[in-house]
Amino acid sequence: MIGIFDSGSGGLTVFKEIIARLPRADFIYFGDLRNAPYGEKTPEELGALTVLGMERLLNEGATQIVSACNSVSSNIVMPMFDILDIKPIDIIEMVGPTVRAFRQKRDKKVLIVGTTATLRSGIYQNGFLALGMDVVAVPIPHLAGAIEEGTTEAGMKGMIGNILEKYKGEFNTIVLACTHYPLVWDIFSDVVGDGIEIFNPAVVVAEEVAKRFDGEGESKVRFVLSKDSQFFRQKVNEIFGSDGYIIDVLK
Ligand code: DGL
Repeated sequence: MIGIFDSGSGGLTVFKEIIARLPRADFIYFGDLRNAPYGEKTPEELGALTVLGMERLLNEGATQIVSACNSVSSNIVMPMFDILDIKPIDIIEMVGPTVRAFRQKRDKKVLIVGTTATLRSGIYQNGFLALGMDVVAVPIPHLAGAIEEGTTEAGMKGMIGNILEKYKGEFNTIVLACTHYPLVWDIFSDVVGDGIEIFNPAVVVAEEVAKRFDGEGESKVRFVLSKDSQFFRQKVNEIFGSDGYIIDVLK
């Protein structure tokens, strides 16, 4: 069974791409909404929450794990192999597949947006530097939380626009390095305008999952939430329809 981990609804954008490629696999998704958002937390806080979240997935029967959260992927996934005794091949995270996707397009002028925690780690910047690409990386603080809380479109457009306008003309590709951001794809598209490629890492991560993980099962899908959320339920409904899965909320 494949386990998927995020602070909340963002991982659904990755799950959507995975399930399209592995429709017969069994999945358990843990959304840690009680502790969301993750993006402004310290590495120590993220470490503790990640151990708890991934242990939960393993205890529920997951044998392979997708870290569908960039804040977790960039800060703490590597030591998890040893801390939780999971083989590296059985964890897929966001950063590696994303950077690898640019090996054949190193001429792109890339702007990376994500949470404070993700960009503070420097791991995306280092990955792109290793390819010889000097990227610009800018956090959009509190945007993931605003998406999760259902902030107005105008409010989010302001948050994104205020930050991106400073980098106008400096990039032709924007990497959405927070799995919540594709939930507001239209706002990003509106703000960056025509001629800018919006790169969603969920696609290459899902391709990696389809290549490496076990796709045979009974199409069972179970969501476990540490706190109930109407927004999460609504997103699940939009993406997966109204049945074919269960949602459990922890007491
Ligand atoms: N969706 C996660 C990420 O990719 C977490 C965002 C948050 O909870 O702040 O970073």
